[in-house]
Amino acid sequence: MQYTFPITRTTHPKQKPDEDHLVFGQNFSDHMFVMDYDEGQGWHDGKIIPYGNISIDPASCVLHYAQMMFEGMKAYKTPDGHVQLFRPYMNAQRLNRTNERMCMPPMDEELFVSAVKATVLADIDWVPSKPGTSLYIRPFIISDEVSFSVLPAKHYRFMIILCPSGPYYAGNMGKLSTTRIFVEDEYIRAAPGGTGFAKVGGNYAGGMKASQKALAYSCKDVLWLDATEHKYVEEIGTSNAFFVIGDEVITAPLEGTILPGITRNSVITLLTEWGYTVHERKLSIDELFAAADNGTLKEVYATGTAAVISPIGTLCYQGRDYVIGNNEVGPIAQRLYDTIYGIQTGTVPDDKHWTERVI
Ligand code: COI
Repeated sequence: MQYTFPITRTTHPKQKPDEDHLVFGQNFSDHMFVMDYDEGQGWHDGKIIPYGNISIDPASCVLHYAQMMFEGMKAYKTPDGHVQLFRPYMNAQRLNRTNERMCMPPMDEELFVSAVKATVLADIDWVPSKPGTSLYIRPFIISDEVSFSVLPAKHYRFMIILCPSGPYYAGNMGKLSTTRIFVEDEYIRAAPGGTGFAKVGGNYAGGMKASQKALAYSCKDVLWLDATEHKYVEEIGTSNAFFVIGDEVITAPLEGTILPGITRNSVITLLTEWGYTVHERKLSIDELFAAADNGTLKEVYATGTAAVISPIGTLCYQGRDYVIGNNEVGPIAQRLYDTIYGIQTGTVPDDKHWTERVI
C-alpha cells in the first residue's frame, strides 16, 4: 500500500545550525510528523506540520505511567546528492516488538517507513553533509488518553522529529576517538521479564542515577551488569557493547534484558563475513578484567544508531581504571566504523542492500 501525507509548510523557517558544531539532539528541523490512533479506527490522519509545541491533557496516561516508546534512526547524504536511510524496516520491526510489550497498537511497517521518508523529504535541506554528521530521526509514540487507570490506553499519538547531529560522544567530527565508560555495580537497568529489550523511556529514566555517578568519575556513559548477579556485562547506557579478547569477539546475548540494536546486528554480520569468531555469550566482569590484566583484552567498543561505533579506551570499575589498547582506537572498531558509516553515506558499496533511498 502507498501512503501519502498532507504537508502544512512552516511560514517561519529556522536558521540551520553550523554543521561544524553540531551537538546530538539540540537543534530540531522545521517540520514534524503527527498521526493519531483510536481503538476501532487504527492509525489515521498522518500529516506533516510545522515543528512546535504540542498540547496534551495533564491527565494523559503517558505523563503518569510512562506508556510510550521511541525509535532512533538517521538519514545520510551521499556524495552524489542522494539522501538515504539505514535498514529502516528493522526499526519498524523493533517498534512492533516494543509496542507488543507495552500493550500499544502495532503499526504497518510500510506506514512507518513511508512516514519517516515523507518527514525527511519535507526537511531534506536539513540533512547535513560534513563528515561524521547525519540527520537523527526520532519517531515516538505516547499514550494520550485521559485516565488514571493503570491499564493500556485506547488513544495514542505517533510523532517523528528530526535533528541534524554530530557524534553522540562528542569527539572530532568524522574521526574516531576513545571514550571513558563507568562499570555500574550497584544500580541495574533491566531484569529478566522486564522491558530491557524494548525501546521505552523508562529504561533510560531509571538509568540516569548511574549516569550521574559515571559523570562524577569523568565517564561518558555506563556499562550495565546483569540484574541478578551483577556479574555479567550487558549493554552501555545508549548502545550495545562488544569486547575483543584474544581472537574472539564477544557481545551479550539477546535474552530479553538488552536492546536488539540494528548496528549490533550489522556489526555481527560484517565481522562474521570478515572471518572473525563472534560469540553472543555471557561475559563476566571477572573474565573481562582478567583479560585486561593479562593483556588479551584488545578492544572494547559501543555500537548504536547515535553512537555508531564508539571505541572505549578506559573502563572504570570500583575505583580502578582499566586502560584498553593503550587508550587508542582499535583496528576492528576503525574498520567497522569506516564500513558502516561508509555504507550509510554511500561511499562504500552497499552489497547487502541495507540502505533505502529517500530521494
Ligand atoms: C539511538 O541510538 O538511536 C538511541 O536511541 C540512543 C539514545 C538514547 C541516545
